[in-house]
Amino acid sequence: MRHLMSPLDFSVEELDRLLDLANDIEANPKKYAHACDGKKIATLFYEPSTRTRLSFEAAMLNLGGSVLGFSSADSSSAAKGETVADTIRIISSYADICAMRHPKEGAPLVASMYSSIPVINAGDGGHQHPTQTLTDLLTIRTLKGRLDNITIGLCGDLKFGRTVHSLISALVRYPNVNFILISPEELRIPDYIRENVLRKNHQNFKEVVRLEDALPELDLLYMTRVQKERFFNEEDYVRMKDFYILDKAKLELAGPDMLILHPLPRVNEISAEVDDDPRAVYFRQAQYGVYVRMALILTLLEVEVC
Ligand code: NCD
Repeated sequence: MRHLMSPLDFSVEELDRLLDLANDIEANPKKYAHACDGKKIATLFYEPSTRTRLSFEAAMLNLGGSVLGFSSADSSSAAKGETVADTIRIISSYADICAMRHPKEGAPLVASMYSSIPVINAGDGGHQHPTQTLTDLLTIRTLKGRLDNITIGLCGDLKFGRTVHSLISALVRYPNVNFILISPEELRIPDYIRENVLRKNHQNFKEVVRLEDALPELDLLYMTRVQKERFFNEEDYVRMKDFYILDKAKLELAGPDMLILHPLPRVNEISAEVDDDPRAVYFRQAQYGVYVRMALILTLLEVEVC
């Protein structure tokens, strides 16, 4: 039985197969409509979510399966003090697979140790968000045509943004990926990513503060929101939250083929006037999240569709 805790749990070849499957699902949805008849996914969300939880649920429903779960810690027995280990022992007998989001880093890993069904990390604190990374890889590969030979700018809250941590970990495995890390001084990428992921893999990267300086060089711009819920005080958040605002005027500095991604939700970091720009692909990215989660469910449940 396999779980998904980090994007590195899949080899590059396995990821390729998963992304191929997601593309086939998009092209031939009917072929997969009964692939998971009779199966259930449990979504155990101890932290807020719109896209991740609902796209897991939509994915299972599209495959003919059904869903159960909770969408906040208050509405589960966590509020009474139940441990993740006990919860997952029980859920293992209610469902065939589960997706867990938790504010504590490592909680889904703990769950996987006590689980008899596959556990998917749907975001653990400021640590990792592997299924967002699968979504990002599918978006980039489908719309850009490749995952190698790219210059990607990651902009915003690189300290607490788990989507960025997971995406960097995944992209260092492809040849000739250049990273430009764009953040205020206080929200720079954590040392463990800089040292253990970027430097260790001899990756080309630079850290800058001004988005304007990076824009002309980029094939991809990955914008992120400042992660309010991970700040220790409101004042720091307020000072940081509008540090970057991508608007039409700034976009003039970018090339005509630069794609703009964002895991969403967006707050102010991309103004609404950018949404109509053909380079803005963040809403399509969210749609890809359903196909890739369908592919992931099929893969972890070892369901073959001919
Ligand atoms: C992201 C997350 O939860 O980390 N959202 C998502 O799953 N698409 C990004 C964010 O909340 O900023």
